[in-house]
Amino acid sequence: MSVTILVGGQWGDEGKGKVIDLLADRVEMVVRSQGGNNAGHTVVADGNEFKFHLIPSGILYPQTTCVIGHGVVVDPKAFLTELDHIHERGVTTDNLMVSDRAHMVMPYHPVLDKLGETQRGDDRLGTTWRGIGPTYEDKVRRIGFRVGDLQKPRFLEKKLRFVLRLKNESLTRLFDAEPFDEQAILDEYMQYAERLEPYIRDIYPVVQGAIGRGERILLEGAQGVMLDLDLGTYPYVTSSSPTAGGACTGSGIPPSRISKTVGVFKAYTTRVGYGPFPTELTDSLGDYIREVGAEFGTTTGRARRVGWFDGAVARYSVNTNGIDSMVLTKVDVLDTLATVKICTGYSWRGEEWDHPMANISHMKHCEPQYVEMPGWQEPLRERRRFEDLPRACQDYVAALEDVCGAPVDAISVGPDREHTIVRRPLV
Ligand code: IMP
Repeated sequence: MSVTILVGGQWGDEGKGKVIDLLADRVEMVVRSQGGNNAGHTVVADGNEFKFHLIPSGILYPQTTCVIGHGVVVDPKAFLTELDHIHERGVTTDNLMVSDRAHMVMPYHPVLDKLGETQRGDDRLGTTWRGIGPTYEDKVRRIGFRVGDLQKPRFLEKKLRFVLRLKNESLTRLFDAEPFDEQAILDEYMQYAERLEPYIRDIYPVVQGAIGRGERILLEGAQGVMLDLDLGTYPYVTSSSPTAGGACTGSGIPPSRISKTVGVFKAYTTRVGYGPFPTELTDSLGDYIREVGAEFGTTTGRARRVGWFDGAVARYSVNTNGIDSMVLTKVDVLDTLATVKICTGYSWRGEEWDHPMANISHMKHCEPQYVEMPGWQEPLRERRRFEDLPRACQDYVAALEDVCGAPVDAISVGPDREHTIVRRPLV
């Protein structure tokens, strides 16, 4: 038996989709355990590009069971749109299931997300407007709707009457916005209920059964450690726990069953949305990396902010998640640079910091400490073995391992499945 957790080690968008796709044919089950359709995973398989938001990337392998765990928030409309899209591309989804305990995004959640952001003015977070935060808020407030509620129309109706009164009061009184109509929501969600029915499952026996049979399971993380509600750059974070701990609670797999935690890191750093980013490059070099790396969001199309590899962030990710193995992605994006820099820590008013601070203002104004190294200035895309990489690139990877305290076991040098160097097996 082996249960592997895969987490994003930075601010999301590290290229986890590609890594999950590479591993999915080696496992019997892939489980998504947090986040929602704020996530976006791009997978290129046999020259075809797929963009996944809610559905685990492992869906491309019909023999792999794909589970949307209870830690995920599911927008049924987005789920069905994604389902239609992948069906049109000839992918079957008989191997897909959604936990009846997963919470649902309701029509008022994206509206409240957007209104909440507008109300924050200059302090807005830069959310994806998918209603993710408001859905998790209602989960914690115990007024959320779960996927399983779709199978209980009378209960759903009764609860909606109570909840919608609260929501409409907020919408009309706090935000001066239009209220929602109860019957319209019921009609809409009852239609979803019919289409979702074949996918709704109590995942407990399914997941425990797989563990019991000694099957290999991959827990697919969305977002990244620095967007974690507790460990990230709060409040500039998402509303779930994209960490190894979150993977356990969101799937019902206990920590004692985890065999390995793999962290995916981009060879530089990006983030979308607002909040501190010590190594950010706001100059033409940043623009260049953004263009070469096609750093535009899969979900919202927003231009990502770009910066040097932040070793303080990466080490913090390694330590707080127990990352045993790192995957480094998009190394080829740096191919033409004469020099590359790695941040090893921060200096703030004479104090040295080897990890991100809780104080957002300090984090915003700290000075990153860099080591500068020669670039390799050779194309990496066709290299398939670590030994075939230019010396300067090997040195860059070794320096990252040193600063992070974990081995780099795989390196991605391009978007396709085959553009990958595997130094040691990941699962
Ligand atoms: P929310 O998750 O939509 O509430 O957005 C909160 C923050 O997380 C914003 O800065 C988003 O840009 C960021 N975020 C959410 N999902 C992703 C993702 O999949 N990749 C990168 N950033 C994300």
